[in-house]
Amino acid sequence: MTLLSTHGLTAFYGDFQALFGVDLTLGAGETLAIIGANGAGKSTLLRSVCGLIPAASGMIRFDGADVGALSAPEIMALGIAMVPEGRRLFPSLSVEENLLIGTYGRKTQGTWSLSTVYDLFPVLRERRHNPGTALSGGQQQMVAIGRALMSNPRVLLCDEISLGLAPVVIKDIYAALPRIKEGGTSVIVVEQDIGQALRVADRVVCMMEGRITLEGTPARLTRAVIHDAYFGARV
Ligand SMILES: Nc1ncnc2c1ncn2[C@@H]1O[C@H](COP(=O)(O)OP(=O)(O)O)[C@@H](O)[C@H]1O
Ligand SMILES: [Mg+2]
Repeated sequence: MTLLSTHGLTAFYGDFQALFGVDLTLGAGETLAIIGANGAGKSTLLRSVCGLIPAASGMIRFDGADVGALSAPEIMALGIAMVPEGRRLFPSLSVEENLLIGTYGRKTQGTWSLSTVYDLFPVLRERRHNPGTALSGGQQQMVAIGRALMSNPRVLLCDEISLGLAPVVIKDIYAALPRIKEGGTSVIVVEQDIGQALRVADRVVCMMEGRITLEGTPARLTRAVIHDAYFGARV
């Protein structure tokens, strides 16, 4: 069953067009990876889906309803949460206060609470009274993911959660994904690390210059095909 879809989605920053007719689907319970070079439009696509960039009516559907014209808070209340690029914690707030921000406006029911987020990332329980700035990059990323989970999302959008982190930390962070899926949450991960994307995803989409250039299951995608979709076909 398709939970979330975009239909001919376009996006603009002023006069600059960043998305050109993107058709994307996300199934219930599915983990989808979006790969693509810097500037391909991956973040813009996620921002459009969660209402941070206006989309026209009819372009985004969630659980059978047209959500294209809704505001970001309205979309969040329906159960779409984003882990933004660069984590964006409130530096003066503690870990726990940052996590609690994720519950504001929450309307969806689910299993996520402070205690289940601390079970998922035990180091955050130890550090719960520390300010966000006192954490390592990996711990900050865990807070950003936990904050999004606190809204009990049905769809979790993760924008480059491995960027700038050491491989051992990336492994810890991605180890949380199966437990997030077990709760029934569908996930989109934007990932520049193609190997990581292929390991975690049920399906992969590649973007280039505001368009989807490839779509398939990891088993079906060869390195050569991915290379062409990522950088453009070799001539
Ligand atoms: N706030 C913005 N203002 C103007 N142009 C932007 C803005 N954010 C992104 N862009 C442009 O939109 C295109 C897509 O960017 P983005 O979605 O951030 O790509 P990605 O996440 O794949 O690296 C790029 O050409 C980028 O320069
Ligand atoms: Mg980006």
